[in-house]
Amino acid sequence: MVNVNENFLKLQAGYLFPEIGRRVRAFSTTNPTAKIIRLGIGDVTEPLAPAVIEAMHKAVDKMAVKESFHGYDDGGRGYDFLLDAIIENDFGSRSVEIDRSEVFVSDGSKCDTGNFQEVFGIDNVIAVTDPVYPVYVDTNVMAGRTGTALDQGKYGGIVYMPCTEENDFTPELPDEKVDIIYLCYPNNPTGAVATKEQLKKWVDYARKNKSVILFDAAYEAFITDKSIPHSIYEVPGAKEVAVEFRSYSKTAGFTGIRCAYTIVPKELKAYKKDGQSVDINPIWNRRHCTKFNGVSFITQAGAAAIYSAEGKKQVKKIIDIYMSNASVIRQSLTKLGYTVYGGVNAPYVWLKTPEGVGSWEFFDVLLQKANVVGTPGAGFGAAGEGYFRLSAFNYPAVVEEAMERIAKL
Ligand code: MLT
Repeated sequence: MVNVNENFLKLQAGYLFPEIGRRVRAFSTTNPTAKIIRLGIGDVTEPLAPAVIEAMHKAVDKMAVKESFHGYDDGGRGYDFLLDAIIENDFGSRSVEIDRSEVFVSDGSKCDTGNFQEVFGIDNVIAVTDPVYPVYVDTNVMAGRTGTALDQGKYGGIVYMPCTEENDFTPELPDEKVDIIYLCYPNNPTGAVATKEQLKKWVDYARKNKSVILFDAAYEAFITDKSIPHSIYEVPGAKEVAVEFRSYSKTAGFTGIRCAYTIVPKELKAYKKDGQSVDINPIWNRRHCTKFNGVSFITQAGAAAIYSAEGKKQVKKIIDIYMSNASVIRQSLTKLGYTVYGGVNAPYVWLKTPEGVGSWEFFDVLLQKANVVGTPGAGFGAAGEGYFRLSAFNYPAVVEEAMERIAKL
């Protein structure tokens, strides 16, 4: 008799976005003529930048010729041309030194943030913000690092750090000692950002407690405020305690192409039960090369093109479109009397639902009356109840129309 991994049975409701998809499909079936506007899942709508397309076409041509054909990306860690572009542009430009051996190119930050917990022991205490990107929690549930489901979508054994209006959506340091801390800045879903001083608090905590920070920076390209750090490594000492996840999905419209990378510093340690320290970089390297065979040459060529002079300009133009959408959403909702957060350094606007209206209830009203899809805050955690996320990823005219429909509610 084969046993099931019973940890999977602890998982509550379906993963948030499939659940939203299910509700939207059910609505469409009974309302086939409704023109639905999707501002729910953060999926990009603008086509790839011309520099990316050109580089990918050239890479296809190389694959057609014996002399320049590529098979496996040896070791699956990423080609040097992409690693060097990452090191110089994403870190060197911010005075952060990163070595090629610390960069792991992959097919997405969802997989990387979900998989990274595998290299840590099962009895570590994890801490997450509330609300939180559900992948961090669900993957720890699957691994068996949590207790059973409690009420309000929580799990036993996890330390939840509420992010509310009162603390400007930035969590306090936990009172208890935690081992693995998930942080996401700019934040999904609230759109909040962390200053260098705020990140320093976490780095100091992690160094003092021998903890590790899993820092998801998938939305760093949307930062407009020059004082906000783009990388946790801008904080001195962070390389000793933090892993950083970056993604081309939102930055360069790669949600359908799939390319991301993770930085695992050589300084990063975890500890054996006897207290002896162990380097995490070679362990992640072993895991990565065992379970992953690399991102296609064509995809990596496209990713590298965003670092060319032309590529940078084109990608910035696309980001500006989304950020202008975010500004339209913020302004329109504010005019209608909603309290809104985010949308300034992130492509997500986090709004307060009207008094007494729960976030799933607001989801249903918006879907049924305005045919607009957003994401209920409660889907991101208990502290997300009473909030609602609108994504700025859509065409400007569509976002304008969504705002007009919401105004008529
Ligand atoms: C979101 O809408 O939160 C993101 O698109 C989800 C993801 O990146 O996996």
